[in-house]
Amino acid sequence: MSAQYQYDVLVIGGGAAGLTLALHLATSKRIALITKGPLGEGATRYAQGGVSAVLDKSDSEESHIADTLSSGAGLCNPDTVRFVVENGRNAVQWLIDCGVPFTQETRPDGRLDYHLTREGGHSHRRVIHAADATGSAIESTLEDRIHEHPNIDVFEHHIAVDLITGAKLGMQPNRCLGAYVFNKQTAVVDTFRAAAVVLATGGAGKTYLYTSNPDVATGDGIAMAWRAGCRVANMEFVQFHPTCLYHPEAKSFLITEAVRGEGGKLLLPDGSRFMSKYDPRAELAPRDIVARAIDFEMKRLGIACVYLDISHKPAAFITQHFPTVYQRCLEFGFDMTQQPIPVVPAAHYTCGGIMTDLRGRTDLPGLWAIGETACTGFHGANRMASNSLLECLVFGMAAARDMSAYLEQTAPPPTLPLWDESRVSEPSEEIVVHHNWDELRRVMWDYVGIVRTTKRLLKAQRRVDLLLKEAEEYYATYTISNDLIELRNLTLVADLIVRSALSRKESRGLHFTRDFPEPDNSAAPSNTIVVPPNHHEAASDEIQIGEPRLRVV
Ligand code: FAD
Ligand code: SIN
Repeated sequence: MSAQYQYDVLVIGGGAAGLTLALHLATSKRIALITKGPLGEGATRYAQGGVSAVLDKSDSEESHIADTLSSGAGLCNPDTVRFVVENGRNAVQWLIDCGVPFTQETRPDGRLDYHLTREGGHSHRRVIHAADATGSAIESTLEDRIHEHPNIDVFEHHIAVDLITGAKLGMQPNRCLGAYVFNKQTAVVDTFRAAAVVLATGGAGKTYLYTSNPDVATGDGIAMAWRAGCRVANMEFVQFHPTCLYHPEAKSFLITEAVRGEGGKLLLPDGSRFMSKYDPRAELAPRDIVARAIDFEMKRLGIACVYLDISHKPAAFITQHFPTVYQRCLEFGFDMTQQPIPVVPAAHYTCGGIMTDLRGRTDLPGLWAIGETACTGFHGANRMASNSLLECLVFGMAAARDMSAYLEQTAPPPTLPLWDESRVSEPSEEIVVHHNWDELRRVMWDYVGIVRTTKRLLKAQRRVDLLLKEAEEYYATYTISNDLIELRNLTLVADLIVRSALSRKESRGLHFTRDFPEPDNSAAPSNTIVVPPNHHEAASDEIQIGEPRLRVV
């Protein structure tokens, strides 16, 4: 029996972005927070390195801004960058106030202070962390605060299928009214009504065969927003993390960039270093450069991996700074205090996403997007390490403020029609879904990876087109399941990535194509904006990425 719920706010996603927003609204609003797996299963929980912010007297906001703009290769919106960086200290302070146990150290003058680590692209130590398990510390602390709030109801194992919009129901003016949500425990689709809905659904790393991302990262928010008429930007900029553990059973376990930040060197099998051939910053160059250099060396030498070596540091230093990485490597037979670790790149972060302004607003009134699912203009063509959790926090707070004002002026949605299953039947062959999942992820890895060509992208496009049609047909014919919902979203996101990559006739940031190996400097760099066919239904007034500039306090 399907249910209809009514809340002020529906938060889809329980990572850093969703939890921050929910906690900032919960004193005055009733909130439903849904997560498709257990609460806590998302990229946030696996974050290792930390959160970047200007916290040391020798550092400055101008420097953090300059580093972010430089990594972003001309595509960051400078207003967004300034907005996020200027709110960084507040955001970190809020986490400390919530109780996140960041690592501390005794400074030479005897003072106890937070330890700041260094990562690629940053010209200062500015990454605050909880050893090498920062995400887990943030997620579990915020979850504790969520459970204390009587105004927040958490619905785990609930996967949002699609947004409900006024346009779909013939209501004017158009706005978001809620979402249809598949309860995985009862296999029934429930209706969630809310005047304000926020997509905090994370990234889309699962589009690729090898990824550091957890299984939930299937781009659902991007796909749902697109189907509701929202524009999506910069999807060609998929970030590959240079160093994931190379082992058949390690599922691309991440070896944090902080290992390089604390002196780790990248080596070829003969023990020689190679990064300084590619960039004067060597192992601390931005990720696109390091990942491409590794890819190049692997192809040049026909090797399956390169090596990351920090064994020259004292064993106690390594086990104290990287306890999680050390333990995990040991489980696979590698003692990083004694030997180099085999590493390969894997898909890690989706720089593009649903276009939003500085309030987290999307094209559709009543719909916000925050965190990795959004494209705010902060990361441009390449995200700098540890800038992502920061963006989740700052935009979680900004959207909460904006939503609060919006809710004062907006009536709750009317009763909504229940999910209609009358035209679908039980699937006869589940194998189709699993086969297409595998095929999609392999096609994306082989043809739309770190180094691209137009020929390979066109090949990918033909295959993704077919997979997209099959997923839509399957969805229209059979009762839904978690895997089918995800496959439908993944194929759509893959299509957006391939189309965006084909449309960029230059190499910039994370998008490198052999056919246009240089940036096109003949005109100002531009974002790739993909417009859905029903966009006219969504847009009340056109938002711009990163506009207008506000201050979150
Ligand atoms: P997530 O934390 O991914 O949460 C997504 C949520 O959405 C989940 O609760 C999921 O269940 C839910 N969801 C998704 N689809 C649906 C649906 N259809 N219905 C219902 N719920 C849904 N960034 C840094 O800044 N510093 C780091 O050190 C760092 N390390 C990283 C290490 C790893 C291994 C990975 C994978 C990423 C790392 N990142 C890091 C990136 C960063 O962790 C993510 O960008 C960030 O955590 C994303 O947070 P989020 O709230 O947007 O989404
Ligand atoms: C890492 O610890 O290397 C990941 C940091 C990030 O993705 O921001």
